[in-house]
Amino acid sequence: MTEAPERYGLMWPGKRAAARSAQARASTRLIDVPELSVGPGTSDSGGGTGDGAGDSDGAGDSGGTGNSSGTSESNSTGNTIIVGDNLEVLRLLRDTHAGAVKLIYIDPPYNTRSDFVYNDDFSIGVREFRDRHGPHDPRDGPDSGARLHADWLSMMYPRLILAREVLASDGVGFVSIDGNEVAQLKLMLAEVFGARNVVATIVWVSNLKGRQISIGGPAGTHEYIVCFARDAEAIARFRGSGSEFHERMPAVYRRPGYRVKHDEHGPYVTKNELYNTNSRFNERTAPTLVYRIHFNPTTGEVRVSDVDDDTEFPGFVTALPHPNHRDGLRWHAWRWSRAKVLADSDDLEFEVSGASLRIRTKVRDVDGMTLKDVILGPTTAEGQADLDALGMRHLFETPKPVSLLRTLIAVASDDDDLVLDFFAGSGSTAQAVLEQNAADGARRRFMLVQLPEPVSPRSDAARAGFETVAALTVERVRRAAERVGQNHPTVDCGFRVQRLATASE
Ligand SMILES: C[S@@+](CC[C@H](N)C(=O)[O-])C[C@H]1O[C@@H](n2cnc3c(N)ncnc32)[C@H](O)[C@@H]1O
Repeated sequence: MTEAPERYGLMWPGKRAAARSAQARASTRLIDVPELSVGPGTSDSGGGTGDGAGDSDGAGDSGGTGNSSGTSESNSTGNTIIVGDNLEVLRLLRDTHAGAVKLIYIDPPYNTRSDFVYNDDFSIGVREFRDRHGPHDPRDGPDSGARLHADWLSMMYPRLILAREVLASDGVGFVSIDGNEVAQLKLMLAEVFGARNVVATIVWVSNLKGRQISIGGPAGTHEYIVCFARDAEAIARFRGSGSEFHERMPAVYRRPGYRVKHDEHGPYVTKNELYNTNSRFNERTAPTLVYRIHFNPTTGEVRVSDVDDDTEFPGFVTALPHPNHRDGLRWHAWRWSRAKVLADSDDLEFEVSGASLRIRTKVRDVDGMTLKDVILGPTTAEGQADLDALGMRHLFETPKPVSLLRTLIAVASDDDDLVLDFFAGSGSTAQAVLEQNAADGARRRFMLVQLPEPVSPRSDAARAGFETVAALTVERVRRAAERVGQNHPTVDCGFRVQRLATASE
């Protein structure tokens, strides 16, 4: 008997049904909630409650447009908060926003089984598991993790399938996660987006003191931000400002130490000489990159000639390639071809000292730096402080620090890109978009989705008058927008609130 071919992949009970739920058509529509919306084109009457008490889930109906773009009127805001289950909302966005989202940031429940204002426990008991999925496959022993992870996977799977539909061809996604589900998440992303499109796993050191209350093992200090792309080959490098990185994360980025110089094309720094410091590139391995360069300090003219041709040019100083000390070799290669040296000589700095000539390459992006895959600076406590600063102390347990999100948003989006967060929580992503726009002048738009999940009756949020997490989201964004708008009147600080219509509406 021949054995069935073995397959590679992530399996769990409930996967088929989860995939089907992504394919299902949306059964509802979006309607506007003008009384919670803010700014031109949203028909608001001043916006929000102003005192922290939230409307429960955006009751009220404008009659509804079903259009979630928020840009139907020319001067209307491009920002949107949608109150509803993100699965149904993503089904709607699949039709209205296919390929339109440049950056997805999500911070889903981590399945840590903690008692938060939102549900963070997707584990199920033995009996419930059997009722739902039938008896355990005998190969899934009690420690296989199926009861702990299956429902979390089934929750995430259709949402990621739909997320792929709305992501732009050069779009990037970030998912915050901790050690509980990072393995499952990465395998699932690899299945949905393709293994090559799981681009990086960024470590965020969220609490360097370490969670001293951890049960057994080391005290946790970090979580992850898994980065994926619709097409890894189409995404840009995560470039940002070296001085801003240094300010936010001094332990990871040194203060940019290069002296800024100027020429007729503007500022530049020099970091490297023109010769290739790697001795493996030499006259044998790269013969076309081994030649003489001549520079005329009076006229600025540049010439090149063969390395063994000792013709002298009057008025010119000559640079031979760098000597190579490897056995049997004479020269290091240059990093640039002859043609490039002649065409782009404005991007070379020639330092003449007597008869010797040193050549360096000019870097025009003087403050530019690529984001590293460790983030150490913004902390969990800072996320709380951001909420405190808006007068919303202790109203949400797990807000991400705005500066962390700004770092991601700054390197992976610009212009008028759309930033989507469909597990919005306290709405930190919206604040980060607004603050980053204020800082760099871009006109990014945000779209948040948040379930009208009732807050626990014993929570500070309930005591402050909020009935749902979504009400809290709207209020936080309203306060953050008001603050940004005061100092930056040109930033679009309005937002349209929409919600899923109920069956009878
Ligand atoms: C970890 S929190 C996000 C925190 C957020 N990043 C912040 O900085 O405040 C996850 C959020 O996802 C929401 N959520 C869970 N399931 C959802 C669903 N099906 N649709 C929309 N939101 C959901 C929860 O209510 C919770 O607010």
